[in-house]
Formats: sequence, structure tokens, C-alpha cells
Amino acid sequence: MINEKVAKLVNEQVNKEFYSAYLYLDFANYFEDEGLDGFANWYFIQAQEEMDHALKMRKYLIDNGLHVQLDAIAKPNKVFKNHTEVLEAGLEHERYVTSLINAIYDAAFDAREYKSMQFLDWFVKEQVEEEKNAEDLLKKMAIFSKDSKGLYSLNQELKGRTFTPSANE
Ligand code: FEO
Repeated sequence: MINEKVAKLVNEQVNKEFYSAYLYLDFANYFEDEGLDGFANWYFIQAQEEMDHALKMRKYLIDNGLHVQLDAIAKPNKVFKNHTEVLEAGLEHERYVTSLINAIYDAAFDAREYKSMQFLDWFVKEQVEEEKNAEDLLKKMAIFSKDSKGLYSLNQELKGRTFTPSANE
């Protein structure tokens, strides 16, 4: 069994990770419309990572004998004026997710539930990487998007991002 509050928060986080996938898929769609297929690929891979996070949490609940309640996924509703705004929204979203993971960790800590703390350690570490990836992308954008040649090169680089399921990391 898992502490009731922790289980509730992890189940809610399953939905929020699926929402993250939906959000990043929306970002990918934006870049497809803009003709920037490398940026679209980067966010498509990001969406796959988010689904991986959701499924990892689903498995944790199931492995502990719990039913996983799936809820409606909210509609992404962001409207962007330029490419950089998308990247900024991504970083802002990752910082929000970090706060959610920390809140679950707080609940596990309060309940002295060591197995949940250990489970959440992976996500704490992952959020460091998620924020860094979003920050690095913004930095590259600031450097390379000053002219169309630089933007083209960055777009080419982002085509190379691939998905690695977390179980293989
Ligand atoms: Fe599931 Fe981007 O954190």
C-alpha cells in the first residue's frame, strides 16, 4: 500500500504528465505549421518522454495494488506570437512540473514513506534535466536565431533528438 495522500497526488500527476505530453504535441504542431521540422521533432520527442513519465507513475500505483483513475486531459490553449515564446512556455511549464514533483515528495516525506521517496528520486533528478534542456534550447535560440541561416542550422540539429524509454536509461 501507499499512503493515501501520496497515492492521490501520484494519480493526479499521471494526468498532469499526459497533459504535458499533449502540451508538447501542441508545440510540435505549431512548429510543423511554421515549417521548422527539427523543432517539431524536439517537442514530439518531449511529448513521448512525458507519456513515459505518466506510464512510470501508473506502473508504480499498479505495482502497489492501486487502481489508476484516468481523467480528462485539458486542451492546450496557448497562442504564440513568435518561436521564442513557445520555448519560454516550455521552460515555465517544466518549472511548474518541478513544483508538483516537489509537492508529492513533501507528502511522501511527511508520511515517512521511504519507498515513495525512492520512487520519486528519479523524477527529482529528471526535472533537473528537463529544466536544463528547456534552458539550453532557449540559449541556443538566442544565439542562432538571429538570421535565417542560423535558425536553419539549429533546426537541422534538433532533427537529431531521439526518444529513449526511461527503463533503458
Ligand atoms: Fe514529466 Fe517534463 O516532466
